[in-house]
Order: sequence, then structure tokens, then C-alpha cells
Amino acid sequence: MLKTILAPFRRFFDLHARTHYRTERHSLALTGAIIVVASIGGIFEIAPLFTIDDTVETASDMRVYTPLEQAGRDIYIREGCYACHSQMIRTLRDEVERYGPYSLAAESQYDHPMLWGSKRTGPDLARVGGKYSDDWQVRHLINPRDVVPASIMPQYAFLKDRTLETASLPARLAALRAVGVPYTDEMIASASKDAAAQARPDSDGAAGVAERYGEATTIRTFDGNTDVVTEMDALVAYLQILGRLTQLPYETQAVAQE
Ligand code: HEC
Repeated sequence: MLKTILAPFRRFFDLHARTHYRTERHSLALTGAIIVVASIGGIFEIAPLFTIDDTVETASDMRVYTPLEQAGRDIYIREGCYACHSQMIRTLRDEVERYGPYSLAAESQYDHPMLWGSKRTGPDLARVGGKYSDDWQVRHLINPRDVVPASIMPQYAFLKDRTLETASLPARLAALRAVGVPYTDEMIASASKDAAAQARPDSDGAAGVAERYGEATTIRTFDGNTDVVTEMDALVAYLQILGRLTQLPYETQAVAQE
């Protein structure tokens, strides 16, 4: 009984073994067979790339980081914030309910390097912009335990005592333009001035920042001190713009839920 059931399988394995032994004795046939089998995985990886123009959305209202925000991003990288925080909300229901609309590719098109990450000792920060006041962000960075008693995040109080280095900003923006970020000559030329002006709403340069980067740009005294522009100003300006460079995810995903 069992023999009859297994017979077709035996025949299949016999045939398979015979073909295999034959192929193994011909190096060219074996190489050909290996290429066929290995390329199946390759096709599954490569084929979706042919549709990339249709699948990656374009965000027409997307703006570039201002020099102050870009300086803050560089501090975020320097301090290794990415070691504990990701910046990518996945398309999973629990993530969307906790953090907001899932991340779109268009949102990180000007991020060099991107900071998506996968390590979450702390929460994802892709949409933290506007979640808290500037004052909360500053107090949290000075000592996280002052606002979140059980926090294990390190403190970064020294950032408020360090004057922001702005002289190298034109060169940093020019480097970003070389890899595709659409900074204009004017933006690059006024980068150092704009960085200082964005943290001083009453200064003469503030209007120039709004003109170059849009009316929606946040021009505020981020760290509460207008005398010097500090690294704290830059980092808070950056945190407050996370997830706010384009409205696209909020618009498209609100429609999708209806
Ligand atoms: C050792 C891991 C660690 C590092 C490094 C770290 N964080 Fe955190 N972060 C946390 C944890 C844990 C929390 C959650 C508790 C809290 O709010 O303090 C948190 C919370 C936050 C929040 C609040 C998020 C929210 O939605 O409530 C912000 C903003 C933040 N971190 C920014 C930063 C920045 C900026 C840096 C770098 C200067 C940084 N973190 C470095 C672990 C870390």
C-alpha cells in the first residue's frame, strides 16, 4: 500500500538524481544551471525597480532644509541620536496609530545620508516636528528626566553653551547640491546669514529666510536666547521640522482612510 503511494515520488527522485549526476559531470551545464537558479532571486529583486517611476510619489510642495535645520541635522548625526532613534514609520497599523501617517520615499529625498534606521531604544522621530513646544524640546535635551521621569536618554545640556559654527554652511549646502538637493546660488551665498537669522525673528535677515524657504518656515528663538545662535537652536529647529517638509503624507493618507 505504502509502496504504491510512494512509487511516483521514488520515480521523480530517481530521475532527479540521474539528471543531477549527469549535469555534475559537465561543467558548462552545471554552470548554466547554477546561473538559472541564482538569477531567480535576482529577478525578484530587480523587477520592481522597473516600475520605480510609477511607485515613488512626487511631493510638489516639498522644501529643502534651511541652513539652520541642516546644521541641526549634522549635530543630530554627530551626537549619534540615530543610534537610539529611527526616522521611518512603517506601513503597519500599530506604527501609524502611534506615530502618524507612514513615511513616504519623497520625504527623505533630500536626506544625505538618510537616517531611517531600525534601532528604536527611543521612539521613532520621523513626525516629531510640532509634537512638543520648543521649550519642551530644550528642557528635554538639557535633562530628559525633568520632563519624562523614567527616561534613559542621555543629556545634551552642553549644546546650549556651544555657539553654532556657521562659516562652513555655504560649503556644506554646495556639497548637498552636488548630490542633487536643489539649493540655489542665492541660498548657498546667504547660508551663514540665514542660519543666524532663523533663530532671531526680530533681525533684519529674518524676512530673507522666509522669502527663500517659504512663509511656512519656522523663524523662532528656539532655545529662548537671542544673544547667540547655539547648537541647541539648530538641533531644535531640525527636530521641529521633522515630518513637516511636505503635506503629502497627511493629504494622501487621509484620503485613503475615507
Ligand atoms: C541611549 C539612547 C538615546 C539616545 C542616544 C538619544 N535618545 Fe532620544 N530618547 C531615548 C528614549 C529612551 C526616549 C523616550 C523617553 C523620553 O522621552 O525621554 C527618547 C525620547 C526622545 C524624544 C521625544 C520623542 C517623543 O515622541 O516623545 C526626542 C525628541 C528625542 N529623544 C531626541 C533625541 C535627540 C535629538 C538625540 C541626540 C541629541 C537623542 N534623542 C539621543 C533614547 C535616546
